[in-house]
Amino acid sequence: MTRLGQAGLGAWGKNLARNFDEIADLAWLCDADESRRQEFAARYPSARVTGDFEELLADPELEAVAVATPVPTHYELAKLALEAGKHVFVEKPPAMRAHEMEELCDLAEERDLVLMPGHLLLYHPAVNMLKRLVDGGDLGDVLCVYSNRQNLGVIRRHENALLSLGVHDLSVILYLLEEEPTEVWAHGNAFLNEGVEDIVFCYLRFPSGKIAHMHLSWLDPHKMRKITVVGREKMVVFDDMELERKVTVYDKAPWHPSATWGEWQTRSGDIFSPKVPNDEPLRLECTHFLELVAGEGDRRKAARDGLLVVQALEALQASLVAAPA
Ligand SMILES: NC(=O)c1ccc[n+]([C@@H]2O[C@H](COP(=O)([O-])OP(=O)(O)OC[C@H]3O[C@@H](n4cnc5c(N)ncnc54)[C@H](O)[C@@H]3O)[C@@H](O)[C@H]2O)c1
Repeated sequence: MTRLGQAGLGAWGKNLARNFDEIADLAWLCDADESRRQEFAARYPSARVTGDFEELLADPELEAVAVATPVPTHYELAKLALEAGKHVFVEKPPAMRAHEMEELCDLAEERDLVLMPGHLLLYHPAVNMLKRLVDGGDLGDVLCVYSNRQNLGVIRRHENALLSLGVHDLSVILYLLEEEPTEVWAHGNAFLNEGVEDIVFCYLRFPSGKIAHMHLSWLDPHKMRKITVVGREKMVVFDDMELERKVTVYDKAPWHPSATWGEWQTRSGDIFSPKVPNDEPLRLECTHFLELVAGEGDRRKAARDGLLVVQALEALQASLVAAPA
């Protein structure tokens, strides 16, 4: 079993710890907060608990580290762990700037270590289904992908809605389209905490002409977790708020009948919901990390795909800051 340590035992870290405890040897727990340390020491009595990340890294038997601390700390902690020769799973995004992520990728490659960003949605069975539909040509040419990730809360103080929420959708959009955007725009505003945008609208355009949009907000009456893919032949929606009907395929499309002398019409056919396995995405993600550590799969690709996400994020963030309020 992989001997693993985890830094960051907050709202999300507890889910990671639960999974790693079940499928790895969760040997170390680290958090800057004393009360969190006490809580987790009681929950995982066989793990060693510390407030000092370097103490965990000094364990020569420790093979891997999971980082679930606030976003601005990811780069520094991931770098320390890689320098100490540990495989790293780091919550999204692993770095806030592309040159930092590039440095982490280089470091991991030089030392043949795993650097896996926590792009949870890529392990969601519904996203895998979207990918199969896109790659299998079921939708025809994909024209547009757009996402809605809105709710009232959780209001973050350190990272804006783009960094906190948008990174999920961005990872899926890049995974589905396999292209890097040539044009990106982001507009938004910080209403509650200075410099931390609560509502962000993003637009991306790709070399093939495909376009994408993301509506990201924690100031919204709707709880929405939705990704829509518009193809020329069919359209598909992944709605993560649905318990059973996570994916819906619409046989709807524009139509160019010869009798209308070039005028576009539309057609509507069947609407159906393919069965999506109920596996926990986080369990699949943690398992994939351990497989990479064990030498299975493409560890270099996992890190480099993460770099593409950080590059797009950085370009969006630059546009957001430059945009007039
Ligand atoms: N994949 C997902 O779906 C998902 C969901 C929620 C959050 N996240 C990510 O998980 C990370 C944590 O989010 P959260 O909601 O748990 O935040 P949180 O604030 O609840 O927890 C963060 C914890 O990290 C600790 N911490 C801060 N700096 C530290 C340091 N230098 N060393 C050790 N501990 C430190 C804090 O004391 C706190 O307990 C973020 O990167 C967030 O983006 C991912």
